[in-house]
Amino acid sequence: MTNLVPGTRFVIEEKVMINIGVLASGRGTNLQAIIEAVEEGRIEGEISIVISDNQDAFALKRAEQYSIDTRYINFKEFEDREDYDREIVKTMKKKKVDLVVLAGYMRILSLYFIKMYQNRIMNIHPALLPSFPGLYAQRQAVEYGVKVSGCTVHFVDEGVDSGPIILQKAVKVSDDDAEESLAKKILKEEHQIYPQAIQLFSEGRLIIKGRKVFIKKRSI
Ligand code: GRF
Repeated sequence: MTNLVPGTRFVIEEKVMINIGVLASGRGTNLQAIIEAVEEGRIEGEISIVISDNQDAFALKRAEQYSIDTRYINFKEFEDREDYDREIVKTMKKKKVDLVVLAGYMRILSLYFIKMYQNRIMNIHPALLPSFPGLYAQRQAVEYGVKVSGCTVHFVDEGVDSGPIILQKAVKVSDDDAEESLAKKILKEEHQIYPQAIQLFSEGRLIIKGRKVFIKKRSI
């Protein structure tokens, strides 16, 4: 199996496994979906560490329940964004992380971080990018009056929600949808496509060419 995205991967029973590092700030339902995909063997890898900028993030508790290493890193103890990110990168490197997964992480990454893990950071956004980037995507969609919205898994570049798109899933917006009901519908799909995108990465099937991500057919 080949993987055009570089990383330090290890082999278990002839399977190439990736080390995943997760950054999460909140409740962690996407983290939960990813943990379950790993447990069920759908993702060829393991979650090596979950890091949060929020001591009370429920995501940390979820990880602990599965005996996954966790770390809270307090932004206030660092000089600036880059200094903070250097600590995260140091921790990720110690854990030999191949792929960084942003799962409801509320801080913007520094250029330093993005360069250190170029093409190896994924994010999920609750809208069909490039529509409605940034915060409150579901509210933006409802207020705009779109009939279809959804979610997008993408690689992270230096812009806001602007990196190459890996997978998207659409959902219908009904006349009576409000921000919350739409968010709920979208979240259900997030829990499907985020583990799928990580699975494709773990199988070495994502090829980035400029803005585009091509998905290689499974080798027999
Ligand atoms: C999700 O809506 C995701 O799209 C966005 O942040 C939210 C995280 O939710 N990036 P959870 O913490 O995974 O439940």
